[in-house]
Amino acid sequence: MINWLSSKLDRISQLDSYIKPEKVEHSIKLDSNENFALDSQYIMKMASLAVAQTDLREYPLEQYEEFYSQLSSYTGVDARYLGAGNGSDQIIELLLSTLGKDQEVTVFTPTFSYFINRCELHGIKLNKVPLNREDNGLPQEEFLNQAAHSDIVYICSPNNPTGNQFAENQILKILEEIKEKLILIDEAYVEFGNYSLAKRIADYDNLIILRTLSKACGLAGARVGYLIANERFANAFRTSIQSPYPINSFSLAVATYALSDKAYLKQTVQLVKSERERVSGALNKLRGITVFKSDANFIFLASEANYERILNTLKDDRIIVKRFGDVNGLRGCLRVTIGTKEMNDKFLKSIYKAFDCCN
Ligand SMILES: Cc1ncc(COP(=O)(O)O)c(C=O)c1O
Repeated sequence: MINWLSSKLDRISQLDSYIKPEKVEHSIKLDSNENFALDSQYIMKMASLAVAQTDLREYPLEQYEEFYSQLSSYTGVDARYLGAGNGSDQIIELLLSTLGKDQEVTVFTPTFSYFINRCELHGIKLNKVPLNREDNGLPQEEFLNQAAHSDIVYICSPNNPTGNQFAENQILKILEEIKEKLILIDEAYVEFGNYSLAKRIADYDNLIILRTLSKACGLAGARVGYLIANERFANAFRTSIQSPYPINSFSLAVATYALSDKAYLKQTVQLVKSERERVSGALNKLRGITVFKSDANFIFLASEANYERILNTLKDDRIIVKRFGDVNGLRGCLRVTIGTKEMNDKFLKSIYKAFDCCN
């Protein structure tokens, strides 16, 4: 193989690669933070309507206008501040590949692994600040010190995988103190959280917010994400950084329908939030598991010595969760998506079974 290509591939092969979630027949899928609270018949109906109005021979044109107009109404943000992408993954990739060269990024850990992997792929230097072990809180002073030496700051809010959202005034303090750094706030799970910074977008020209329709809107398969940024950046993103048609006509049509039914989306988010509290409450009663407070559609657990036993029981019951092993000194960590009431009941039943075995 050509020398330069071979050495690039050698470097890439040493990086952490994306491990696709397991697909197990007839399983309960609680590993990828998708949203099953949205009724599948409802999604199917939206998809049929979208098929009927889509002519796949044409590039999407007016579909973008309709999507942006609906997105503006959903977010309460003027369309001038918006930019769409093929999932927020694609937007992250574009931001890092166009802006990241020779820059340093500060992140806290653990956080969204794709973001870290993408920085590593592009050879972007990462400053990692571990979250506080006891509550996954942000060590504010240390984070600010590290951020002061870097160019870009990434804050996942609420954070994946820990689920917590830092207090709004804590994040505003960061925005106030480091105005010379680009601050990326990943709000993939924000609908399940306590606040969004979208309303502040006109106040900070160094702020870019990343959002997605994969979580609260239940459209992970449609691959639709967006950013909210100052007008100049959003315009440059739409016209130069982004490719001309990143989202296909069909996904645009489905997304436009989904965003138009705000009441239904709100209702399902509410359902997930109340199920989250129910599942957290039930898990909290078990000894030998630490359950962290979540502001997202999933729960982060440290299951300590019960890790293998829990994983084996869940596996026998065909319940798939995300395994993390040891993280920041926490042992046996798991991330569990909140599903429908029925899915959550099956998950709890399986966990109880694992505990009966070890008690
Ligand atoms: C924090 C965070 N950001 C972004 C994404 C990617 O979302 P999308 O499906 O829009 O690419 C995810 C997906 O899990 C996520 O957890």
